[in-house]
Amino acid sequence: MSTPTPSLSTTARQVLADIAAKVSPYSQQPVDQAFVEHVSNVYHGMEAAHYDEYESSIADAEEAWQKALHFLAQRLPQRIRVLDYGAGTGFASLQMLQSAIGPRIAELVCFDLSPAMIEMCREKMKAFPQVRFTFYADVAGREALRQEAPFHIVATNAVLHHMYDVNDFLKQLPAMVHPDGVYIAGHEPNRPFYYNAVLLKATRQFQVYKRLRRRLSPGFWLQKLGAKAVTPSFIQRTIDALLADGSLARPLPHFYVQKMIDVHVPWGLGLDQPWGQIGFSSSETATQLGEDWKAVFTASYSHIKDAEATHHWWWKHRISKLADRYPADGADALVVFGR
Ligand SMILES: C[S@@+](CC[C@H](N)C(=O)[O-])C[C@H]1O[C@@H](n2cnc3c(N)ncnc32)[C@H](O)[C@@H]1O
Repeated sequence: MSTPTPSLSTTARQVLADIAAKVSPYSQQPVDQAFVEHVSNVYHGMEAAHYDEYESSIADAEEAWQKALHFLAQRLPQRIRVLDYGAGTGFASLQMLQSAIGPRIAELVCFDLSPAMIEMCREKMKAFPQVRFTFYADVAGREALRQEAPFHIVATNAVLHHMYDVNDFLKQLPAMVHPDGVYIAGHEPNRPFYYNAVLLKATRQFQVYKRLRRRLSPGFWLQKLGAKAVTPSFIQRTIDALLADGSLARPLPHFYVQKMIDVHVPWGLGLDQPWGQIGFSSSETATQLGEDWKAVFTASYSHIKDAEATHHWWWKHRISKLADRYPADGADALVVFGR
């Protein structure tokens, strides 16, 4: 097992050590910070071209974003600078540019670890010539971001759960935010969901329903009989790429690759995980940001943890009942933090 770099916090060090203990037997290289970031980059680079169609669950976050931005319109000045951290193909940037605060955005900085994602983002942002954009990618880009601070809004959407060093990120974040500014943590796994037995049961019931439905589809049987090709998943393609570039010595179980990417999303809904935390709690995140920080706006959604459930009328009805009963416990949350 390799030694983690000294700048890592105890928690990140622990996550890396836990990953290394499980993954090293499959690896050709030391399983360290660079290895885990490489796995994430290979996966997200592969996902980039299909991201907008593939991540349909992100669409559920739109309503929460628009409510939050409406709330923020009162609080923010007339001319603002924004950072979209882990911008991907630009979902959070688009939410902000197309909202009530859009005309106030003078500068927007987009950063992503994955150069492929940031290229897609750059293309999309061409639709907003009135805004001054800067794009950064990779580890070098992350360093360059420091010179750009402070921002009136720092936004992440579906990013924190990928970070094995999330505590370090949250500790460093206040220095990036203007004293009157905010941090928006969009679309992250919401810890209360994983402790709500009713919502977990409903999600498991939907999974059974989905499996049964799939077995009734002709496509399933054509694949079983070998008459229809099975498209390899992004995880399988990531494993193939890591074998090809010499990172892996032998195929890694899919579960480990998924957990190296979705570090803080509980696999299989359980509390017993090989590494990472059980999603995020808004109060814990506020404490990690600093004692003067608090959650000023919260929205939670996905009361059955599967975006497909909303496509079936009966399950949609059930979700709406569960949301009325447990408004704060949806599987995903968007939280705005301010001082
Ligand atoms: C699920 S995607 C979300 C992208 C975009 N924010 C959105 O909402 O569509 C996660 C993104 O985070 C990036 N990412 C993962 N780990 C990161 C890290 N440690 N620092 C910055 N970006 C990271 C990935 O490259 C990917 O583009």
